[in-house]
Amino acid sequence: MSVTILGIESSCDETAAAILRDGFLLSSTIASQDVHKAYGGVVPELASRAHQQNIIPVVAEAIKKAGIEKENIDGVAFTRGPGLMGALLVGTSFAKGFALARNIPLIEVNHLQAHILVHFIKENDKEFPQPRFPFLCLLVSGGHTQLVVVYDYFNMHIIGRTIDDAAGEAFDKAAKIMGFEYPGGPLIDKYAKEGNPKAFIFNKPRIAKLDFSFSGLKTSFLYFLRDQLVNDPKFIETHRNDLCASLQQAIIEILIDKIKRAVDETGIKEIALAGGVSANSGLREALRKEAIVKGWNVYIPEFRFTTDNAAMIAITGYYKFLKGEFADQGITPLARMDF
Ligand code: KG4
Ligand code: ZN
Repeated sequence: MSVTILGIESSCDETAAAILRDGFLLSSTIASQDVHKAYGGVVPELASRAHQQNIIPVVAEAIKKAGIEKENIDGVAFTRGPGLMGALLVGTSFAKGFALARNIPLIEVNHLQAHILVHFIKENDKEFPQPRFPFLCLLVSGGHTQLVVVYDYFNMHIIGRTIDDAAGEAFDKAAKIMGFEYPGGPLIDKYAKEGNPKAFIFNKPRIAKLDFSFSGLKTSFLYFLRDQLVNDPKFIETHRNDLCASLQQAIIEILIDKIKRAVDETGIKEIALAGGVSANSGLREALRKEAIVKGWNVYIPEFRFTTDNAAMIAITGYYKFLKGEFADQGITPLARMDF
């Protein structure tokens, strides 16, 4: 029997829908919310309103692009959490209504597991190598930074996590200090390509074991700029590329160091990246280089599968559908959620 899943993502500032059949992606649509740019971060109330406006057209477009009818959908998967409560409520309510109207299973998805399971999405015209279990996944996004041992699709164990900011927050907060629009991560990546990563040295944390910390780096960056700006008010403009390259280098070194340590401790050499920060070109290159030296197999998602999308919700929903793991209509979203 063929299984067609509609995936819905609305945990933060992207309203997204995707259609997946038997693990193969048929369509994936995303409406990003530009409204937050001017505020230096996501404004939860504005995000909820934009989701409400976008959800119907985004789903309609996903169904149309997939070349199917809504009658062909066998199950609807939605992000239950973690995320912004008002934003999650929109996707959850839509999914419940759709499942009820069509009398098909409703499937709850953990957004973090979904980021990791992007590695199992298949596409007709492409061949993506898939990680073999167990693998290590560095999940780096705007809200999370975790090292996860993935034993199976739904058996995942967190072995390291941030004790303060997430890696994406470190990018976004540093970008805000330099006056860039939100989200600043992609801009730092762009300017870093033209800069010298050794131009400036920022304090790196000494955190035990496999945990991460980024707030000290942010403070070091802030104080450094404050001191420089006293003598040279144009310091940021004139050194923008070097600042971005050096900051990005510090973040990458923190991440790669912990991956190396995790490999030493677990003996696992299958390494995957996931989450919005895995779009960072410096991180992707650094991991590929390290893999050659150490003999690791690395799995890096395509750019469109790094940041929030609904294809990852649909693939997770597909595996839950196969297990017969369904939610009931009384289910509520969760702002906080672990594995
Ligand atoms: O996974 P995601 O879309 O949303 C969350 O679940 O948080 O991740 C968004 C984060 C933001 O902090 C954004 O600045 C960061 O990913 N990001 C990047 C890049 N693209 C997105 N950070 C560094 N370099 C990039 N190219
Ligand atoms: Zn995410």
